[in-house]
Amino acid sequence: MTYQTSSPATVPNADEAHADAEVLQVVGGARLAGQVQISGAKNSALALLAASLLTGEGCEISNVPHLVDIERMSAILIALGAQVLRQGDKLKIRAEQIGYASAPYELVSKLRASFFVIGSLMGRCGRARVPLPGGCAIGARPVDLHVRGLQALGAEVHIEHGIVEARCRCGDRLEGARIYLDYPSVGATETIMMAATLARGQTIIENAAQEPEIVDLANFCIAMGAQIRGAGTKTIVIDGVSELHQASYAVIPDRIEAGTFMVAAAITGSTISIAPVIPEHLGAVIAKLQEVGVRVVQQGRDQLTIIGGHGYRSADIETLPFPGFPTDMQAQFMALLTLCEGNSVITETVFENRLQHVAELNRMGANIKLKGNVAVVSGVPVLSGAPVMATDLRASAALVLAGLAAQGVTTIKGLHHLDRGYENIDHKLRTLGAKLHRTILE
Ligand code: EPZ
Repeated sequence: MTYQTSSPATVPNADEAHADAEVLQVVGGARLAGQVQISGAKNSALALLAASLLTGEGCEISNVPHLVDIERMSAILIALGAQVLRQGDKLKIRAEQIGYASAPYELVSKLRASFFVIGSLMGRCGRARVPLPGGCAIGARPVDLHVRGLQALGAEVHIEHGIVEARCRCGDRLEGARIYLDYPSVGATETIMMAATLARGQTIIENAAQEPEIVDLANFCIAMGAQIRGAGTKTIVIDGVSELHQASYAVIPDRIEAGTFMVAAAITGSTISIAPVIPEHLGAVIAKLQEVGVRVVQQGRDQLTIIGGHGYRSADIETLPFPGFPTDMQAQFMALLTLCEGNSVITETVFENRLQHVAELNRMGANIKLKGNVAVVSGVPVLSGAPVMATDLRASAALVLAGLAAQGVTTIKGLHHLDRGYENIDHKLRTLGAKLHRTILE
């Protein structure tokens, strides 16, 4: 078995061109049944891959989904000098020698999460040179909180020509500090936590993000020998250590993929089971499903059965940091609310441009009025299939869900968005009885 060392930088581009020509055709009206396997969490796996640079001793991360974003992150680790080997759902990473300055822009610009390597590079090397990730379809996505966190840990940071250049002000190790985050940013919490694991002294992150992916990252770092307390709460305490060691770790199940399948059951009036899941990670989603009239039953430790029906009621949603309602489930839930009786008010508070799916759902006969970051969804009896365009990852999932419930055929373009975050979604839906297939439009 040889480690992959050369960067397959071109793969995503080719896929993207092909994906643009490819469409997903969804024939609505099929009932779903059976059980679906939930993959490892994309947003956790990406952070764990970045953290694997913290040790030169090698890591094994399992339950890693096969996704374009994971390929891109692997390519970035390879560009930084790491060796990466994929064996089924396992990634073996060996970052013996890493260069702090060679994350290529063309890769970083395609994967925002890759910016998080700045945290592990600063922790491990005391220096980093990483391109600014830039904005994306859902928002400007600034990194000021990441930068301010690193500055508080004693880094000098210069941003020029689209590159963030950081180095320790004194010596080659960061210094622990108390850091208050103006906003509980997931990415900034992850960057600071990774950097602080190898800093001198204690770091306290206040108003930290509490997402399950933060806890998973902390547990992975602890498995490598880090000293971290309070992950999952608003205050995280990290006592820096001089070095970290090898570790094997399994990624948590993907709560957003799980939530997406829960809505698939609800919107088609079906009963399905999903596993493995961690029900505590889905609290807000389960509560809102129950509020509209869907039954959710837990079986054993890690399985949920969703019992869909009809005659659902409207519900209001406000997206918030965890444990509030996840912004990554907003679009999928909007698709469901288009068929719920009454008016639902959806307020997107996390990203400034994450309501582009409204126009596409209205093309399918939904009745949604938009004002700034608020969408008022007036329930309609049916949706009708139509050609639609996916604008971002979760919007693409919402269009698939709407297509499952719609009368006739829905043709979805922009599948490269979907493939960034859902492993084999077509296949999984087909095993549940959905009627959908990919084709190339002539
Ligand atoms: C993570 O993005 C997830 N991505 C996102 O999932 C998710 O939507 C988001 O957290 C919120 O839950 C990954 O984990 C790879 P943030 P992240 O920093 O870390 C502003 C998906 O669909 N902000 O918590 O980038 C920012 O602009 C993706 O899988 C600053 O202003 O999210 C946003 O409005 C999409 N300055 C808000 O905070 C900063 O320095 C939340 O961003 C950082 C963030």
